[in-house]
Amino acid sequence: MSSQIDHLLSESRRFAPPAQFAADAVATADLYAQAAADDTGFWAAQARELHWHTPFTQVLDWSNPPFASWFADGELNVAYNCLDRHVEAGNGERVALLWEGEPGDSRHVTYAELTDEVKRLANVLQDLGIGEGDRVAIYMPMIPEAIAAMLAVARLGAIHSVIFGGFSADSLRSRIDDAGAKLVITADGGYRKGKVSALKPAVDMALSDRNGSGVQESVEHVLVVRRGGNDVEWTEGRDIWWHDVVPQASAEHEARAFPAETPLFILYTSGTTGKPKGIMHTSGGYLTQAAFSNRVVHDLHPETDVYWCTADIGWITGHSYVTYGPLANGATQVLYEGTPDTPHPGRWWEIVQKYGVTILYTAPTAIRSFMKLGRAIPEQYDLSSLRLLGSVGEPINPEAWMWYRKVIGGKVAPIVDTWWQTETGAIMISALPGVTETKPGSAQVPLPGVAVEVVDDDGVHVGNGNGGLLVITRPWPSMLRGIWGDPERYKETYWDKFAAQGYYFAGDGARLDEDGDVWLLGRVDDVMNVSGHRLSTTEIESALVANEAVAEAAVVGASDETTGQAVAAFVIIKQSYLAAHSPDGLAQSLRAWVGEQIGPIARPRDVYIVEELPKTRSGKIMRRLLRDVAEGREVGDTTTLADTAVMSVISAQVR
Ligand code: PRX
Repeated sequence: MSSQIDHLLSESRRFAPPAQFAADAVATADLYAQAAADDTGFWAAQARELHWHTPFTQVLDWSNPPFASWFADGELNVAYNCLDRHVEAGNGERVALLWEGEPGDSRHVTYAELTDEVKRLANVLQDLGIGEGDRVAIYMPMIPEAIAAMLAVARLGAIHSVIFGGFSADSLRSRIDDAGAKLVITADGGYRKGKVSALKPAVDMALSDRNGSGVQESVEHVLVVRRGGNDVEWTEGRDIWWHDVVPQASAEHEARAFPAETPLFILYTSGTTGKPKGIMHTSGGYLTQAAFSNRVVHDLHPETDVYWCTADIGWITGHSYVTYGPLANGATQVLYEGTPDTPHPGRWWEIVQKYGVTILYTAPTAIRSFMKLGRAIPEQYDLSSLRLLGSVGEPINPEAWMWYRKVIGGKVAPIVDTWWQTETGAIMISALPGVTETKPGSAQVPLPGVAVEVVDDDGVHVGNGNGGLLVITRPWPSMLRGIWGDPERYKETYWDKFAAQGYYFAGDGARLDEDGDVWLLGRVDDVMNVSGHRLSTTEIESALVANEAVAEAAVVGASDETTGQAVAAFVIIKQSYLAAHSPDGLAQSLRAWVGEQIGPIARPRDVYIVEELPKTRSGKIMRRLLRDVAEGREVGDTTTLADTAVMSVISAQVR
């Protein structure tokens, strides 16, 4: 960490926005002053950009912290805001989705068409008994129907839980059960890496193999889009083809108004324990901040821009900056089904050229892997349409930042490095393009209306030039409203640490430089960040010890040039298995096992078979020392270990 900090402190490059960009920018410097003068008034003004069936008179209610409510007496319909109102304003012919399938098929969906599809689907869902407060699981590839599914659920005041298509049947089952979903919307399969990756079989498995789960089946129906054309099994009475019901349904559907605090979605994310948390967001505040931040941070001009956020809808970035923010703003956006390197490594740049993408929002991992492949690939395409670049999900190192700017941004496009979380719902820290001079590697400043601080363990502000913990000191409209079914865990996880001050604890380390700009330094808890995806060390450890060969396991996030962090597992194998199997074979099969249990993103990069794990006298595993080994460093201070010799044994074994 210390070499990283030294490096950060020596960063002195600054980039002013091009003059024309600044002149045309959506964001203006006076937003900061307005918000500083009256932050709730500022958010109320942003909320009034939406259509309210019943205007609100209350703004923030913080009388029962940490449970906030925003705009509580107002009523709106989220889907109406993303669809009907654009059609009613005469923009029905504007393209909402420029969809590109991985094999090269494509579809353009206008706002009028998407509204029509969502209305039909809302009627179908209603016929299936879905109404206000019901939970609907969505497990889909990146196809227009996935967006329609989210919006149709929202239109009915029901709650969606989107589960990333790369998650296993097991992960799917636990999420379906935790939310008590009544309906699953899925597809036969979708294209990934040049072939059809099946989805429906995972749903079938999740719903059939319930031995010993002790949970009553909540799912009544499975609605299936045909995309992959792969063979699927069919459960009569439960399974329904989308194409058999949606096109036939009526396209008349009136959007009912719901109170602003109506839950909109649950999104599961990894925490420090083995069980993923269902982060809950509600309607009015969430949509307000998603739409506002999308306009000012991405400098979105909906009439002229072609926007592309590369995130999957299975993550919060896909919720806020593919579905809700851009559609609430009436943007035209690219939606791409597949992987960046299929069928060739220039696929993304080909898409930028084909559609004339002007705004690109992606993750540092992707940038670093393109960097590795070399500039010759993007240089084969015309990327001159790009005028703004964004980064999200993990710290972007200055080297990757500079490459992004030069090679992708033609040395002129401003870069916004945006810090936020599933829990915050929307971007919290970022430069405002056209206003802020950018600095490679720093997320920089809180958005207008957002209050963050860096504090020490006692909650005292550290001041410029110092490091500490990142906290949010004032409630914000798109803040999570809780953890599904577990209000205690919500308090404990985010609010107990700084209960005296009433600060939200983000779980990230951060540093303020001499200008007061924020530099994110990574998680301070047992959460890893692999390719911008959050993974819990404990969850992977639980998966490993669930394998019959494993006696004990410890997992750490080791730094990785491309993925930011990588999963490194240290595993003690039961004697009986050690005798019968080769260590290489065991390591291979454990990697595959974790992939099956959780999903390919959780598959360890390294599995080290060891005889012992470093523990303190009280039995706590010292992961810090294991991280030293996994990163090939000299092992740090071992004096608090119960057995100080254990690290030399482990180091020798790993080598
Ligand atoms: O550690 C921070 C990191 O990602 C975490 C949030 O992960 P998730 O909820 O999956 O949301 C990711 C997309 C918003 C944070 O606690 N993180 C996110 N953005 C950045 C970041 N770390 C550094 N710089 C960022 N820009």
